[in-house]
Amino acid sequence: MTIQNNNNIFRSVLSNSGPSNHIPPIWFMRQAGRYLPEYREVRTANKSFLSLCKNPEDAALVTLQPIQRFDFDAAIMFSDILVIPEAMGMDLDFVESVGPIFKNPIRTPRDILTVDPEEVIGKLSFVMQTIANIRSQLPKSKSLIGFSGSPFTLACYMLEGRSNKSTGNNFPNISRWISEHPEDLVKLLQTVSQLIVQYAIKQIESGVDVIMLFDTWGGLLTDEDYRKYSFRFLEDIVHNIKLIKPKIPVIVFTKSQHVTEKYSISQQQSFVNNMHNMMNISQFDVIGVDHNIDMAIASQNLSNKIIQGNFNPNILAEGNQHAIKQEAKKILDIIYNSQHQGRYIFNLGHGILPNTDPKNVQYLIDFVRSYSA
Ligand code: CP3
Repeated sequence: MTIQNNNNIFRSVLSNSGPSNHIPPIWFMRQAGRYLPEYREVRTANKSFLSLCKNPEDAALVTLQPIQRFDFDAAIMFSDILVIPEAMGMDLDFVESVGPIFKNPIRTPRDILTVDPEEVIGKLSFVMQTIANIRSQLPKSKSLIGFSGSPFTLACYMLEGRSNKSTGNNFPNISRWISEHPEDLVKLLQTVSQLIVQYAIKQIESGVDVIMLFDTWGGLLTDEDYRKYSFRFLEDIVHNIKLIKPKIPVIVFTKSQHVTEKYSISQQQSFVNNMHNMMNISQFDVIGVDHNIDMAIASQNLSNKIIQGNFNPNILAEGNQHAIKQEAKKILDIIYNSQHQGRYIFNLGHGILPNTDPKNVQYLIDFVRSYSA
């Protein structure tokens, strides 16, 4: 284990006071998960992935595992983005090697249920208990990240009933709704947005220091539709969170258009630049950068913001240590020669893959900390 410094470097980067040295704070998306043997042990002791999410003791335990093993600078509460639609009354199951399934997906506008926000958030009290349990055990020098899916990303699953990986198709139902029921879709996105704001506030009051919004599938949209069906709601959410909790930093992560081959290179570049321009003048504090985006371009575009991410999780899973070092060096050299020196959080471009060897995770963290020091 590396030497722990007592000042919270995650917090000092977020407050723009800059770290005392040049070492960026480090955490990884999906840092608690199947690549860790200690996670698999707790996971199999629970009936299913969802039962683990609803077990505040074990959810806290697996949240803390990667902190204990790797001394990451931040913990992310263990849960899933799909617990919101479940609390709205959708029947959720996680099937081994298939992923999430809703047995009653929304098929027509008539299927949209009216919800009582207080009742929905009340059903998520297990998340608040998990946060309280984590907080009581997490060292003060570590930040705790709470999260939600973005309205658009949640709606992708609510309308499709399952993941794009399992259907081999990028959520065709939501595309159909954009052309056939745009007003109903906007109504659904608004309902979900209001729930997300209240859910985030509750998480903050339970003990998280940072909120992250996962807009994973926003990049499936065209520039114009991205503003209409994803960004607009993200902006409302961050605005409303900050009205109530002005000091809480909010991170947003959108996967760029490279997730689909239907766009040309120039369309992809235009999407990234437009998305960055919107983000740069938004109220978000930190913008997550996926591994398909050129970090030098992200740094130029996002001059007002702290940036996070970009390390390709496939390189980490492949496990060639020379390649791991080269990838980390490439990103860090861009950061150190840019205005983002001291305004960067080291992370992957997307979640850590289950076939990643924990020893390479340690290798990467050690390299980043020693190269930066
Ligand atoms: O980052 C963390 O460590 C915190 C926990 C976390 C999970 N899911 C745990 C999880 C977070 C932040 C998420 C977010 C999430 N969930 C997203 C957005 C981010 C992203 O990765 O794009 C999405 C789209 C989901 C929905 C979801 N959950 C899918 C599609 C799957 C199946 C994919 C797979 O790898 O099997 C999940 C399951 C899931 N969520 C697992 C974990 C650890 C694996 C389930 C298991 O342990 O059996």
